[in-house]
Amino acid sequence: MARPLLLLAALAIAAPDEPTVLLTDDEIELAREFSPLESPPPDPTNRVADDPAAARLGRAFFFDPRFSRSGTISCATCHDPARGFSDGRRIAKGEAHHARHTQSLWNVAYNRWFFWDGRKDSLWSQALQPLEDHREHGTTRLEVVHAVAADEGYARAYEDVFGPLPPLDDEARFPPAGRPMPEEPRHPHHVAWTGMADEDRDAVTRTFVNLGKAIAAFERTLVTRRAPFDVFVEGLATGDEEKLRAIPPAAQRGFSLFVGEGRCILCHDGPNFTDREFHANRVPTGEGVDPGRALGVLRLLDDPFNLRSPHADDGGELGRTKLSLPRPKWHLPGEFKTPSLRNVATSPPYMHEGQMETLQEVVEFYSTLEGAVPPGPHTEKLLRPLGLDARGKADLVAFLESLTEETIPDALRGPPPTPDLPRDGR
Ligand code: HEC
Ligand code: HEC
Repeated sequence: MARPLLLLAALAIAAPDEPTVLLTDDEIELAREFSPLESPPPDPTNRVADDPAAARLGRAFFFDPRFSRSGTISCATCHDPARGFSDGRRIAKGEAHHARHTQSLWNVAYNRWFFWDGRKDSLWSQALQPLEDHREHGTTRLEVVHAVAADEGYARAYEDVFGPLPPLDDEARFPPAGRPMPEEPRHPHHVAWTGMADEDRDAVTRTFVNLGKAIAAFERTLVTRRAPFDVFVEGLATGDEEKLRAIPPAAQRGFSLFVGEGRCILCHDGPNFTDREFHANRVPTGEGVDPGRALGVLRLLDDPFNLRSPHADDGGELGRTKLSLPRPKWHLPGEFKTPSLRNVATSPPYMHEGQMETLQEVVEFYSTLEGAVPPGPHTEKLLRPLGLDARGKADLVAFLESLTEETIPDALRGPPPTPDLPRDGR
């Protein structure tokens, strides 16, 4: 219903002799750089990245609260499909309060680095962190693999994709809970973990990593296919009048600003509207300084699951080049990852601490840079106050809204029927 009404409204406000396309030839060229969004790049470090059976297992896991300390938190608690795979909160809350805002998972498979500070270099290793983070799922890898083995549906689905589970019912070898916690050597989870035989520990960790790879296979399906802006760009290629009216004139003017004097394109470029890198946007923060990428790089290089580790299925090849690039930039604290802007209207609030409630507020910030945290000696050079008038701001918001896909496939919503995890072809 909403679409025809919007179209009528757009037609009604366009002056009768106003051309349908308001972009210059150069802007039309640029528009093609933003659309269409092709399938995500392959992930050679995850051998099940595009395996549908792995994605089904990952999907069940994603929506299942049993893999948490209290039995109430799943990935979807914070990454809710109905809220753009975020949670609507400023700061996330799982088993305890978090420090940052929940990122949307739309088009997450196109990213190069993960988390606001890029402390992970693959989607599968990212998935392992919330499970053992006391603020999120607050569980341990031993509990997770026991829960999978104890459930017939999960155990079968796991073994179909990855082969036999370790003999987890041998209680002498596999304690009920445990994980490495070298920072707290007396913690019972650490004691239980270090008491195990090396090969049993490795088997548990491998199983845990495999679950991360299945979750990543599911997350790779969270792709926006066709927003009104994409339909408009198709129209630019074919001249189809109806497609050219898929976005209102205000959104077209907003696009001109986005690639022109608004300078948004400097960071939000390409079909996923991000350069996949980090910038110090100086967004106003609460107390304390979040070092962002500066600390993220150190954590990444130290991470036992990074792409140089034996868990990468390409023998560490990608990791050897990818991990030679990032250097901690202590002179530039407060760098955060440029988010994608596809479906951005569906996941307020915005920024790494959810500092801004609406897209209007975001645009207002870029327009004035009011409240920007004081620049360091080497601050981000790309940002400057834009001084937009009211119409310019409204146009930019209209453009951002035209990046919203209107239908979400059912397969990406709500939990799948559990514990029924059918095999392929059954
Ligand atoms: C308590 C809420 C919470 C839960 C539960 C949670 N997340 Fe998150 N997620 C977050 C927050 C907050 C961030 C950003 C954290 C940061 O940057 O430090 C995040 C970031 C991510 C990212 C990075 C996205 C990007 O573009 O870099 C991915 C992927 C992700 N979560 C997947 C998952 C998966 C898979 C699970 C379940 C295993 C999960 N999350 C459970 C809150 C949560
Ligand atoms: C210097 C690079 C850069 C430029 C230029 C830039 N952005 Fe951003 N954008 C970012 C980064 C980095 C963030 C995240 C900042 C943070 O959380 O602290 C962000 C966040 C956002 C968000 C919030 C998204 C979310 O999910 O939280 C929106 C919306 C946005 N930018 C739109 C724009 C628009 C519109 C323009 C042009 C007026 C623009 N950006 C210019 C880098 C940039």
